[in-house]
Amino acid sequence: MANASGGGTIQLHEFAREFTLKIYTPGYGDWAVLGHSGNVEATFRCLATLCNPGDSILVEEWTFPSVLATAKPMGLKPVSVKMDGQGMTAADLERVLSTWNENLQGKRPHVMYTVPIGQNPTGAQMGAKRKLAIYDICVRYDIIIIEDDPYYFLQEGAYVPKALRPAKIQSQSEDVDDPEGFIKSLAPSYPKFDYQGRVIRLDSFSKIIAPGSRMGWFTCNPVFAERLDRLGETTTQAPSGFSQAIIIQLVAKQWGMKKFIRWLQDLRGEYTSRRDFIIDTIHELFDVLPSSGTSGESFPESLPSMIAYIKESTISESKDSKVVMNRKTPLFTFIPPTSGMFLWIKFHVGQYTILKPGETLTEHIFINLVKEGLLIAPGTLFSVNELESGEAFGRIAFSNGSREQLLEGLKVLERVMRKYTSGII
Ligand SMILES: Cc1ncc(COP(=O)(O)O)c(C=O)c1O
Repeated sequence: MANASGGGTIQLHEFAREFTLKIYTPGYGDWAVLGHSGNVEATFRCLATLCNPGDSILVEEWTFPSVLATAKPMGLKPVSVKMDGQGMTAADLERVLSTWNENLQGKRPHVMYTVPIGQNPTGAQMGAKRKLAIYDICVRYDIIIIEDDPYYFLQEGAYVPKALRPAKIQSQSEDVDDPEGFIKSLAPSYPKFDYQGRVIRLDSFSKIIAPGSRMGWFTCNPVFAERLDRLGETTTQAPSGFSQAIIIQLVAKQWGMKKFIRWLQDLRGEYTSRRDFIIDTIHELFDVLPSSGTSGESFPESLPSMIAYIKESTISESKDSKVVMNRKTPLFTFIPPTSGMFLWIKFHVGQYTILKPGETLTEHIFINLVKEGLLIAPGTLFSVNELESGEAFGRIAFSNGSREQLLEGLKVLERVMRKYTSGII
């Protein structure tokens, strides 16, 4: 293979260019692509290139732990922007930037790190209108956007309850041989709106071929690409030659673009079925109702937030309004994810237990789930800010494990939640 530069072989560049043009259609002409060794490595290179120690960077209020672990030792200060069911909100971004006080807070941030699709940990997916609104704010405040988008092709769409689903499955299978229809069904990525070259998009093969591939590419303006390439020369030098040879042979030579896109479409189908399975099972094991009022306050208006109760909880008529009400306190709140591989839940079981001094509710729940055989990611890992006492969140991955294992895990969740309400733990 001929070498294009430290940023990957000519074949990788050709593939990345063709793919980016076909799928993401950047909004300006002279964008460049550059290979990297996975989005985590690429994020490090972006932050090291764009920021100085002491700078603040904008991130979602719940974010990928690796970006926090990368940024903090570099002396960078993550500043959280509030989220709803579509991820970062434009309103809170505007608030953070317009109220920024350089005397108190230091230099205003000029870099944002965001995961707009299949957001890790919340599973949120951002639509075109929101991206445009956020891009416009970034233009006004001169913010560079790092779009970390490894879950882009896992856009499962809104959860459809089991009873209503057959029609949907039928309509999905109709476009299996229609790559253009599949591409059109995907939410646009930031480069589409990027007429100023202020977006650095990060693509990775980790979630669509293999996490061990350690390979992906940047799409950005040529000035940034040159700087990122120079930094790469002192770190990884180039994505592994073996990975490049194997992946490009597979996706570009053996499959070709059409079959690769078909592969991505099938992946989306598999993840949709896993997402449906996990949400269906929660409906089977718990009483699940739409959330309203205070118990769902940390979740969005824009997507249906649900509350899970113990299954046999009594549903009775309210005396005043004749509205059917559930008097039981909720166990946890969640939003059926619309993309990615994670279910994010907020626990409400703190009131049933007394914590030891220094113990957090997150630890308490985490340990009790582990004792019964369920390992979830504790919410504190993803939190930019300190949690309020009594608050606890957790992330359940549905990427791995068979349907039987997912079912077993959810049964553990049900058992442990039940133990909390009966005061056993
Ligand atoms: C938001 C996000 N970015 C990046 C990664 C890792 O990407 P890569 O394997 O390409 O470094 C993950 C998950 O592992 C992730 O959730």
